[in-house]
Amino acid sequence: MPADHRSEPVGLRERGHHAATGSTTGAATAFAQPNIALVKYWGKRDERLVLPHSSSLSLTLDIFPTTTTVRLDPAAGTDAVTLGGEPAAGEPRRRVVAFLDLVRDLAGRTEPAVVDTRNTVPTGAGLASSASGFAALAVASAAAYGLDLDATALSRLARRGSGSAARSILGGFAVWHAGEGTGAAGDLASYAEPVPVSGLDPALVIALVDAGPKAVSSRAAMRRTVDTSPLYRAWADSSGADLPDMLAALRRGDLDAVGEIAERNALGMHATMLAARPAVRYLSPATLEVLDGVLQLRRDGVPAYATMDAGPNVKVLCHRTDAGRVAEVVGAAGRCPAVVARPGPGARLWTGDEP
Ligand code: DP6
Repeated sequence: MPADHRSEPVGLRERGHHAATGSTTGAATAFAQPNIALVKYWGKRDERLVLPHSSSLSLTLDIFPTTTTVRLDPAAGTDAVTLGGEPAAGEPRRRVVAFLDLVRDLAGRTEPAVVDTRNTVPTGAGLASSASGFAALAVASAAAYGLDLDATALSRLARRGSGSAARSILGGFAVWHAGEGTGAAGDLASYAEPVPVSGLDPALVIALVDAGPKAVSSRAAMRRTVDTSPLYRAWADSSGADLPDMLAALRRGDLDAVGEIAERNALGMHATMLAARPAVRYLSPATLEVLDGVLQLRRDGVPAYATMDAGPNVKVLCHRTDAGRVAEVVGAAGRCPAVVARPGPGARLWTGDEP
C-alpha cells in the first residue's frame, strides 16, 4: 500500500491544544473518509454501546471526505447542528446530540456546541456517510472538548456514533475487533486497528447505480435481520471464519483471495437480509447487471470482485492498474457513473497546513 503521511493514527494534534492544563481552543475541524468493509459488520450484540456480533475488516478510501467543525458555545441553550449547511432535524440531529452528550460526559464538560458537517458523498445511500461522518465528529468534538485521545480511544468513541465509523479513524486496511462481553469490558475490547498488508496496490471502483437515500436504514435493517432472519447465525459464524482467512490473504498480498472472501462475505450478508421477516432487499436490477459485468471481467482474465452494503451501489476491488478498464465495464453494465477510489488516510484534525 502506498505510504501516506496522513494515514498515521491520530491523537490530538491541534495547535494551541493543551489537554493537561484544560486549556483548549474550544473549536476544531476534522476530516474523515468512508471505508468499505471486505468482511462486513452486520448485527449488534449491544445496541447502546454499539458492540458487534462479529469482527469486521475494511479499506478506508481516498475520496468522499466529510468535513466537520465543532465549536463550543457556552451562551447557547442547546446544540446547533447543520448538515450540508441545512439545520438537522429528527433522527440525524438526535444521533449527533447523543454523541456530543457522550463526549461531554467523558470530558466532564457541559457547554453546548455548534456542529457543521459537510459530506461529499450522498448521505444514506449505502456509501458509508455515517462512517466518515461519525469519525470526523469524534475527532473534532474530542479536540473541541479538550479530550486527549489516541487512535484506539478515538475508534471506540466513533463506534458509539456508528459502528462502521470505528474503522474510518484508521487509514488503509483496518480490522474492528468485536471484543467480548458487554458493559465497560465490552466497550474497552471493541475498537479498530491497522492491518499489515504487503505487495497490494488495490483500487475500489464504485458503480453508483443509485445515489438516493435508502428506504430502510442500515441500523433498522441489521436489527431486523438479527431478530428475525433464520440465516443470521450461520452468516455470523462463517464471517468469523472469513476474518483470519482475509488477514492471511492481505498479509501475502493475494488480491484474488482477498476478493473472493470479500464477495462471498457480502453476498452472504445480503442473504441474511433477504431471509429477514419482512425481507430487506437493497440490491436492485442495476446491482445485478453490475455483478454480471464483474463476472465477465473475471472470465476475461481481469481480477475483479464485488461487495455491496446497505444500498444498491457496487464496490469492485481490483488491481490499481486495472481500475480504468473495470470502471468502463461496470459503468456500462449498470448504465451508471463509476468512480475510482484508492486507499486513503484515517480521520485527522485540520492543522492549517492542508492545501
Ligand atoms: C452494511 O455502521 O451504518 O455498511 O452502527 O447502526 O450506525 P450503525 O450501522 P452502520 O452499518 C454499516 C453496515 C454495512 C457493513 C459495514 O460497513 O461493515
